[in-house]
Amino acid sequence: MEKKQLLIDYCEYDSLAEMPACDRELMECAMDATRSSYSPYSRFRVGAAVRLADGTLVQGSNQENLAYPSGLCGERVALFTASAQHPGQAVVALAVVGSQEGDFLEASPCGACRQVMVEYEMRYGNEIDVFCYLKGGRVRRIHGVKSLLPFTFEAEL
Ligand code: THU
Repeated sequence: MEKKQLLIDYCEYDSLAEMPACDRELMECAMDATRSSYSPYSRFRVGAAVRLADGTLVQGSNQENLAYPSGLCGERVALFTASAQHPGQAVVALAVVGSQEGDFLEASPCGACRQVMVEYEMRYGNEIDVFCYLKGGRVRRIHGVKSLLPFTFEAEL
């Protein structure tokens, strides 16, 4: 038996102002996307945005349904919209933010969204930068979804 350990590299910005312009724009795009959230059941809005290899930004927001499992997270709405509308374009970055009653809140992708993000990395052979809005306007940046989802499911089908 061998004991092993995982180390996860990430960084945090104190504010959006500290971020490189293109990443700040991506987070602002995710913040803007919270406006289109359809979340009458949870009353928790999630805004997401992805940046594609050619620089295009695509928004997504959580879309709920009375039959609860039929809804979809903001991150997957952004990713699937990007894939459907811009086929062949790699996703290079994703930003996510929560919102309630007009205040922006911390949000981090759920497990299912992480699994979907990993597949985008595998499809296009690049690591995705993930930006999560944190309390007090801080932003966490994680380079590569494998850091968010180690021991990923992989199979040759
Ligand atoms: N939600 C997201 O949009 N993204 C996540 O990563 C986790 C949760 C949504 C689902 C539901 O509409 C609301 O947040 C409350 O769970």
